[in-house]
Amino acid sequence: VSPRRIGVIGAGLMGLTHVRLLSGAVSGAEVVAVSDALPEAAERAAAEAGVETVHPDALDLIGDERVEAVVIASPAGTHEEFAVACIEAGKPVLCEKPLAETLEASRRVLDAELAAGRRLVQVGFMRRFDPGYADMKTKLDAGLVGRPLLVHCAHRNPVVPPSFGSEMIITDTVVHEMDTVRWLLGQEIVRTTVLVPRPTRHAAEGVQDPQFVLFETEDGVLADVEAFVNAQYAYDIRCEVVGELGTISLPPATPVLVRREGRDAAELPGRFQERFGAAYVNELRAWVAGIAEGRPAGASAWDGYAAAAVAEATVEALRSGRPVDVALDARPDFYAAESQLIGER
Ligand SMILES: NC(=O)c1ccc[n+]([C@@H]2O[C@H](COP(=O)([O-])OP(=O)(O)OC[C@H]3O[C@@H](n4cnc5c(N)ncnc54)[C@H](O)[C@@H]3O)[C@@H](O)[C@H]2O)c1
Repeated sequence: VSPRRIGVIGAGLMGLTHVRLLSGAVSGAEVVAVSDALPEAAERAAAEAGVETVHPDALDLIGDERVEAVVIASPAGTHEEFAVACIEAGKPVLCEKPLAETLEASRRVLDAELAAGRRLVQVGFMRRFDPGYADMKTKLDAGLVGRPLLVHCAHRNPVVPPSFGSEMIITDTVVHEMDTVRWLLGQEIVRTTVLVPRPTRHAAEGVQDPQFVLFETEDGVLADVEAFVNAQYAYDIRCEVVGELGTISLPPATPVLVRREGRDAAELPGRFQERFGAAYVNELRAWVAGIAEGRPAGASAWDGYAAAAVAEATVEALRSGRPVDVALDARPDFYAAESQLIGER
Protein backbone atom coordinates (compact mmCIF):
# COMPACT_ATOMS: atom_id res chain seq x y z
CA VAL A 1 0.00 0.00 0.00
CA SER A 2 1.39 3.40 -0.89
CA PRO A 3 1.75 5.82 2.02
CA ARG A 4 -0.89 8.48 2.62
CA ARG A 5 0.29 11.78 1.19
CA ILE A 6 -0.04 14.43 3.89
CA GLY A 7 0.12 18.22 3.70
CA VAL A 8 1.00 20.19 6.85
CA ILE A 9 -0.15 23.79 7.36
CA GLY A 10 1.91 25.79 9.87
CA ALA A 11 5.55 24.88 10.47
CA GLY A 12 5.96 26.43 13.91
CA LEU A 13 6.36 24.61 17.22
CA MET A 14 3.56 22.09 16.71
CA GLY A 15 3.63 21.89 12.91
CA LEU A 16 7.34 21.08 12.86
CA THR A 17 6.74 18.38 15.48
CA HIS A 18 4.02 16.84 13.29
CA VAL A 19 6.25 17.00 10.18
CA ARG A 20 9.08 15.27 12.04
CA LEU A 21 6.88 12.56 13.53
CA LEU A 22 4.99 11.88 10.30
CA SER A 23 8.31 11.56 8.48
CA GLY A 24 10.14 9.54 11.10
CA ALA A 25 7.75 7.70 13.42
CA VAL A 26 4.53 7.02 11.53
CA SER A 27 4.52 4.28 8.93
CA GLY A 28 2.03 4.58 6.11
CA ALA A 29 2.40 8.35 5.86
CA GLU A 30 4.55 10.73 3.89
CA VAL A 31 4.60 14.53 4.12
CA VAL A 32 4.46 15.79 0.52
CA ALA A 33 3.74 19.50 1.10
CA VAL A 34 4.06 22.16 3.77
CA SER A 35 2.76 25.69 4.01
CA ASP A 36 3.55 28.54 6.36
CA ALA A 37 2.86 32.27 6.26
CA LEU A 38 6.59 32.66 6.95
CA PRO A 39 8.39 31.23 3.89
CA GLU A 40 11.56 30.50 5.89
CA ALA A 41 9.63 28.38 8.40
CA ALA A 42 8.12 26.29 5.61
CA GLU A 43 11.46 25.97 3.81
CA ARG A 44 13.23 24.86 6.99
CA ALA A 45 10.65 22.13 7.69
CA ALA A 46 10.68 21.01 4.06
CA ALA A 47 14.47 20.83 3.94
CA GLU A 48 14.72 18.95 7.22
CA ALA A 49 12.13 16.31 6.31
CA GLY A 50 12.80 16.09 2.58
CA VAL A 51 9.37 17.46 1.63
CA GLU A 52 9.00 18.16 -2.10
CA THR A 53 6.54 21.04 -2.20
CA VAL A 54 6.19 24.32 -0.33
CA HIS A 55 2.94 26.21 -0.88
CA PRO A 56 3.06 29.86 0.20
CA ASP A 57 -0.75 29.83 0.40
CA ALA A 58 -2.33 27.15 2.60
CA LEU A 59 -5.44 27.02 0.40
CA ASP A 60 -3.21 25.91 -2.48
CA LEU A 61 -1.87 23.09 -0.29
CA ILE A 62 -5.44 21.96 0.47
CA GLY A 63 -6.26 22.12 -3.25
CA ASP A 64 -3.06 20.28 -4.28
CA GLU A 65 -4.28 17.02 -5.79
CA ARG A 66 -1.22 15.13 -4.51
CA VAL A 67 -2.29 15.97 -0.94
CA GLU A 68 -4.72 13.34 0.38
CA ALA A 69 -5.05 14.54 3.98
CA VAL A 70 -4.10 17.68 5.90
CA VAL A 71 -2.69 18.61 9.32
CA ILE A 72 -3.59 22.14 10.46
CA ALA A 73 -1.01 23.49 12.93
CA SER A 74 -1.33 27.20 12.23
CA PRO A 75 -2.75 29.59 14.87
CA ALA A 76 -6.34 29.16 16.09
CA GLY A 77 -7.61 32.17 14.12
CA THR A 78 -6.89 30.32 10.83
CA HIS A 79 -8.45 26.96 11.75
CA GLU A 80 -12.02 27.65 10.60
CA GLU A 81 -11.07 28.71 7.08
CA PHE A 82 -8.63 25.85 6.53
CA ALA A 83 -10.79 23.14 8.15
CA VAL A 84 -13.84 24.15 6.10
CA ALA A 85 -11.71 24.16 2.93
CA CYS A 86 -10.50 20.61 3.74
CA ILE A 87 -14.08 19.44 4.33
CA GLU A 88 -15.23 20.99 1.07
CA ALA A 89 -12.32 19.32 -0.73
CA GLY A 90 -13.32 15.98 0.89
CA LYS A 91 -9.92 15.60 2.59
CA PRO A 92 -9.48 14.18 6.11
CA VAL A 93 -8.01 16.80 8.43
CA LEU A 94 -6.24 16.64 11.78
CA CYS A 95 -6.85 20.12 13.19
CA GLU A 96 -4.80 21.20 16.19
CA LYS A 97 -6.79 22.33 19.20
CA PRO A 98 -8.82 24.48 19.48
CA LEU A 99 -11.13 23.48 16.62
CA ALA A 100 -11.61 27.20 15.92
CA GLU A 101 -11.10 30.49 17.68
CA THR A 102 -14.70 31.10 18.81
CA LEU A 103 -17.79 29.02 19.55
CA GLU A 104 -19.54 30.40 16.45
CA ALA A 105 -16.57 29.53 14.24
CA SER A 106 -16.45 26.01 15.74
CA ARG A 107 -20.16 25.60 15.01
CA ARG A 108 -19.53 26.57 11.37
CA VAL A 109 -16.86 23.85 11.04
CA LEU A 110 -19.27 21.34 12.61
CA ASP A 111 -22.02 22.43 10.19
CA ALA A 112 -19.67 22.07 7.22
CA GLU A 113 -18.92 18.48 8.25
CA LEU A 114 -22.61 17.72 8.79
CA ALA A 115 -23.32 19.12 5.30
CA ALA A 116 -20.58 16.92 3.85
CA GLY A 117 -22.22 13.93 5.55
CA ARG A 118 -19.00 12.16 6.56
CA ARG A 119 -16.46 12.36 9.34
CA LEU A 120 -13.42 14.20 8.06
CA VAL A 121 -12.26 16.18 11.10
CA GLN A 122 -10.14 14.97 14.01
CA VAL A 123 -9.23 17.56 16.67
CA GLY A 124 -5.71 17.44 18.15
CA PHE A 125 -6.72 16.59 21.71
CA MET A 126 -3.72 14.26 21.92
CA ARG A 127 -4.16 13.31 25.57
CA ARG A 128 -6.71 10.72 24.47
CA PHE A 129 -3.66 8.90 23.03
CA ASP A 130 -1.42 9.28 26.09
CA PRO A 131 -0.84 5.79 27.52
CA GLY A 132 -1.65 6.94 31.08
CA TYR A 133 -4.92 8.66 30.22
CA ALA A 134 -5.91 5.80 27.90
CA ASP A 135 -5.36 3.32 30.74
CA MET A 136 -7.44 5.48 33.10
CA LYS A 137 -10.26 5.51 30.54
CA THR A 138 -10.16 1.72 30.09
CA LYS A 139 -10.27 1.10 33.85
CA LEU A 140 -13.02 3.66 34.42
CA ASP A 141 -15.14 2.16 31.66
CA ALA A 142 -14.56 -1.30 33.15
CA GLY A 143 -16.14 -0.01 36.36
CA LEU A 144 -13.07 -0.68 38.55
CA VAL A 145 -13.83 2.27 40.87
CA GLY A 146 -17.57 2.32 40.41
CA ARG A 147 -19.51 5.45 39.56
CA PRO A 148 -17.26 8.53 39.27
CA LEU A 149 -18.07 11.34 41.71
CA LEU A 150 -15.16 13.79 41.51
CA VAL A 151 -12.20 14.58 39.25
CA HIS A 152 -9.11 16.51 40.39
CA CYS A 153 -6.82 17.92 37.71
CA ALA A 154 -3.73 20.10 37.71
CA HIS A 155 -2.19 21.64 34.59
CA ARG A 156 1.10 23.35 35.34
CA ASN A 157 3.54 24.81 32.83
CA PRO A 158 6.93 26.13 33.93
CA VAL A 159 6.53 29.47 32.09
CA VAL A 160 4.57 31.04 29.24
CA PRO A 161 5.39 34.09 27.08
CA PRO A 162 4.20 37.49 28.42
CA SER A 163 1.57 37.58 25.63
CA PHE A 164 -0.20 34.64 27.27
CA GLY A 165 -3.14 36.37 28.99
CA SER A 166 -5.71 35.34 31.60
CA GLU A 167 -8.27 34.19 29.03
CA MET A 168 -5.68 32.18 27.08
CA ILE A 169 -5.10 30.17 30.25
CA ILE A 170 -8.68 29.00 29.72
CA THR A 171 -8.86 28.75 25.92
CA ASP A 172 -5.36 27.35 25.35
CA THR A 173 -4.53 25.46 28.54
CA VAL A 174 -7.67 24.37 30.41
CA VAL A 175 -9.26 23.44 27.05
CA HIS A 176 -7.27 20.18 27.29
CA GLU A 177 -8.98 19.34 30.60
CA MET A 178 -12.34 20.29 29.08
CA ASP A 179 -11.79 17.51 26.58
CA THR A 180 -10.26 14.99 28.98
CA VAL A 181 -13.03 15.40 31.57
CA ARG A 182 -15.78 15.04 28.90
CA TRP A 183 -14.01 12.04 27.36
CA LEU A 184 -13.05 10.23 30.59
CA LEU A 185 -16.55 10.53 32.01
CA GLY A 186 -18.51 10.32 28.76
CA GLN A 187 -20.55 13.29 29.98
CA GLU A 188 -21.05 16.88 28.93
CA ILE A 189 -19.94 19.75 31.16
CA VAL A 190 -22.99 21.89 31.93
CA ARG A 191 -21.72 24.58 34.33
CA THR A 192 -18.40 26.24 35.03
CA THR A 193 -16.96 28.55 37.70
CA VAL A 194 -13.53 30.19 38.04
CA LEU A 195 -12.05 31.06 41.43
CA VAL A 196 -8.89 33.14 41.60
CA PRO A 197 -6.21 33.10 44.29
CA ARG A 198 -3.68 35.93 44.49
CA PRO A 199 -1.60 35.88 41.30
CA THR A 200 1.96 34.60 41.25
CA ARG A 201 4.63 37.28 40.96
CA HIS A 202 6.04 35.28 38.04
CA ALA A 203 3.05 36.08 35.79
CA ALA A 204 3.05 39.14 33.52
CA GLU A 205 1.41 42.28 34.92
CA GLY A 206 -2.37 41.89 35.05
CA VAL A 207 -2.42 38.16 34.24
CA GLN A 208 -4.51 36.02 36.59
CA ASP A 209 -2.33 32.95 37.17
CA PRO A 210 -3.12 30.49 38.77
CA GLN A 211 -6.83 29.92 38.23
CA PHE A 212 -9.05 27.35 39.89
CA VAL A 213 -11.78 26.12 37.56
CA LEU A 214 -14.73 24.01 38.65
CA PHE A 215 -16.87 22.05 36.18
CA GLU A 216 -20.20 20.37 36.86
CA THR A 217 -21.27 17.61 34.50
CA GLU A 218 -24.74 16.62 33.32
CA ASP A 219 -24.77 13.65 35.76
CA GLY A 220 -23.59 15.72 38.73
CA VAL A 221 -19.85 14.96 38.79
CA LEU A 222 -17.64 17.82 40.02
CA ALA A 223 -14.25 18.31 38.30
CA ASP A 224 -11.71 20.85 39.52
CA VAL A 225 -8.78 22.07 37.45
CA GLU A 226 -5.86 24.03 38.84
CA ALA A 227 -4.32 25.86 35.89
CA PHE A 228 -0.93 27.38 36.73
CA VAL A 229 1.10 28.32 33.68
CA ASN A 230 4.05 30.04 35.39
CA ALA A 231 4.66 27.34 37.99
CA GLN A 232 8.45 27.54 37.40
CA TYR A 233 9.43 24.06 38.51
CA ALA A 234 8.31 21.73 35.65
CA TYR A 235 5.56 20.74 33.23
CA ASP A 236 3.30 18.82 35.55
CA ILE A 237 -0.04 17.26 34.60
CA ARG A 238 -2.19 15.49 37.17
CA CYS A 239 -5.51 13.80 37.10
CA GLU A 240 -7.37 11.68 39.63
CA VAL A 241 -10.90 10.34 39.33
CA VAL A 242 -12.66 9.53 42.60
CA GLY A 243 -15.35 6.88 42.32
CA GLU A 244 -17.68 5.13 44.74
CA LEU A 245 -15.21 2.26 45.20
CA GLY A 246 -11.78 3.85 44.79
CA THR A 247 -9.67 6.23 42.76
CA ILE A 248 -7.81 6.13 39.44
CA SER A 249 -4.83 8.44 38.91
CA LEU A 250 -2.49 9.28 36.07
CA PRO A 251 0.82 7.43 36.49
CA PRO A 252 3.90 9.53 37.26
CA ALA A 253 5.39 11.21 34.19
CA THR A 254 8.76 9.59 34.87
CA PRO A 255 8.37 6.13 36.37
CA VAL A 256 12.06 5.76 37.26
CA LEU A 257 12.96 6.76 40.80
CA VAL A 258 16.51 7.47 41.82
CA ARG A 259 17.57 7.07 45.44
CA ARG A 260 20.92 8.51 46.34
CA GLU A 261 22.57 10.73 48.90
CA GLY A 262 19.66 10.34 51.28
CA ARG A 263 17.08 11.38 48.70
CA ASP A 264 14.33 9.67 46.74
CA ALA A 265 13.77 11.51 43.48
CA ALA A 266 12.03 11.31 40.10
CA GLU A 267 12.74 13.67 37.25
CA LEU A 268 9.88 15.77 35.93
CA PRO A 269 9.48 16.78 32.29
CA GLY A 270 10.25 20.40 31.49
CA ARG A 271 8.11 20.74 28.37
CA PHE A 272 4.84 19.40 26.98
CA GLN A 273 6.72 17.92 24.01
CA GLU A 274 8.50 15.56 26.42
CA ARG A 275 5.50 14.75 28.59
CA PHE A 276 3.19 14.01 25.67
CA GLY A 277 5.76 12.73 23.17
CA ALA A 278 4.14 9.30 22.98
CA ALA A 279 0.68 10.85 22.73
CA TYR A 280 1.62 12.89 19.63
CA VAL A 281 3.03 9.81 17.89
CA ASN A 282 0.03 7.65 18.82
CA GLU A 283 -2.36 10.39 17.72
CA LEU A 284 -0.79 10.61 14.26
CA ARG A 285 -0.63 6.81 13.92
CA ALA A 286 -4.31 6.47 14.82
CA TRP A 287 -5.26 9.26 12.44
CA VAL A 288 -3.34 7.75 9.52
CA ALA A 289 -4.62 4.23 10.26
CA GLY A 290 -8.16 5.58 10.57
CA ILE A 291 -7.94 7.18 7.13
CA ALA A 292 -6.69 3.92 5.63
CA GLU A 293 -9.40 1.86 7.33
CA GLY A 294 -12.20 4.41 6.97
CA ARG A 295 -12.60 4.55 10.75
CA PRO A 296 -12.47 7.87 12.57
CA ALA A 297 -10.22 8.12 15.63
CA GLY A 298 -9.84 10.61 18.46
CA ALA A 299 -11.81 13.76 19.15
CA SER A 300 -14.44 14.69 16.57
CA ALA A 301 -15.63 18.07 15.35
CA TRP A 302 -18.45 17.64 17.88
CA ASP A 303 -15.88 17.24 20.67
CA GLY A 304 -14.05 20.34 19.42
CA TYR A 305 -17.29 22.30 19.36
CA ALA A 306 -18.33 21.08 22.83
CA ALA A 307 -14.93 22.08 24.27
CA ALA A 308 -15.34 25.51 22.64
CA ALA A 309 -18.75 25.90 24.34
CA VAL A 310 -17.19 25.08 27.74
CA ALA A 311 -14.28 27.46 27.02
CA GLU A 312 -16.60 30.32 26.13
CA ALA A 313 -18.64 29.82 29.31
CA THR A 314 -15.45 29.58 31.40
CA VAL A 315 -14.10 32.86 30.01
CA GLU A 316 -17.44 34.43 30.98
CA ALA A 317 -17.15 32.84 34.44
CA LEU A 318 -13.68 34.38 34.87
CA ARG A 319 -14.94 37.83 33.82
CA SER A 320 -18.08 37.72 35.95
CA GLY A 321 -16.79 35.80 38.95
CA ARG A 322 -19.98 33.70 38.84
CA PRO A 323 -21.01 30.20 37.73
CA VAL A 324 -21.99 30.17 34.05
CA ASP A 325 -24.15 27.59 32.27
CA VAL A 326 -22.61 26.06 29.14
CA ALA A 327 -24.68 26.85 26.04
CA LEU A 328 -24.43 23.61 24.09
CA ASP A 329 -26.72 22.68 21.19
CA ALA A 330 -28.06 19.12 21.14
CA ARG A 331 -25.56 16.60 19.76
CA PRO A 332 -26.45 15.68 16.17
CA ASP A 333 -27.26 11.95 15.81
CA PHE A 334 -24.52 11.86 13.17
CA TYR A 335 -21.90 11.87 15.94
CA ALA A 336 -23.52 9.06 17.86
CA ALA A 337 -23.31 6.71 14.89
CA GLU A 338 -20.23 4.54 14.52
CA SER A 339 -21.07 4.14 10.85
CA GLN A 340 -19.92 7.59 9.75
CA LEU A 341 -16.78 6.55 8.01
CA ILE A 342 -13.98 8.77 6.83
CA GLY A 343 -13.79 8.93 3.10
CA GLU A 344 -17.18 7.37 2.34
CA ARG A 345 -20.05 9.28 0.87
N1 LIG B 1 -1.91 19.69 21.11
C1 LIG B 1 -0.99 20.37 21.77
O1 LIG B 1 -0.45 19.92 22.76
C2 LIG B 1 -0.55 21.69 21.27
C3 LIG B 1 0.64 22.27 21.72
C4 LIG B 1 1.04 23.50 21.20
C5 LIG B 1 0.25 24.14 20.28
N2 LIG B 1 -0.91 23.56 19.86
C6 LIG B 1 -1.78 24.22 18.87
O2 LIG B 1 -1.12 24.20 17.61
C7 LIG B 1 -1.42 25.38 16.89
C8 LIG B 1 -0.11 26.09 16.52
O3 LIG B 1 0.58 26.41 17.72
P1 LIG B 1 2.15 26.59 17.77
O4 LIG B 1 2.52 26.60 19.19
O5 LIG B 1 2.80 25.64 16.85
O6 LIG B 1 2.30 28.08 17.17
P2 LIG B 1 3.57 28.68 16.41
O7 LIG B 1 3.36 30.16 16.44
O8 LIG B 1 4.84 28.11 16.91
O9 LIG B 1 3.40 28.18 14.91
C9 LIG B 1 2.34 28.58 14.07
C10 LIG B 1 2.88 28.68 12.65
O10 LIG B 1 1.76 28.97 11.78
C11 LIG B 1 2.21 29.93 10.82
N3 LIG B 1 1.05 30.63 10.24
C12 LIG B 1 0.40 31.71 10.70
N4 LIG B 1 -0.60 32.03 9.88
C13 LIG B 1 -0.58 31.15 8.87
C14 LIG B 1 -1.37 30.98 7.68
N5 LIG B 1 -2.37 31.80 7.41
N6 LIG B 1 -1.04 29.96 6.84
C15 LIG B 1 -0.02 29.14 7.13
N7 LIG B 1 0.77 29.25 8.22
C16 LIG B 1 0.47 30.24 9.09
C17 LIG B 1 3.15 30.83 11.60
O11 LIG B 1 4.01 31.54 10.71
C18 LIG B 1 3.90 29.83 12.46
O12 LIG B 1 5.06 29.32 11.84
C19 LIG B 1 -2.34 26.20 17.78
O13 LIG B 1 -3.67 25.94 17.42
C20 LIG B 1 -2.04 25.68 19.16
O14 LIG B 1 -3.12 25.81 20.06
C21 LIG B 1 -1.30 22.35 20.32
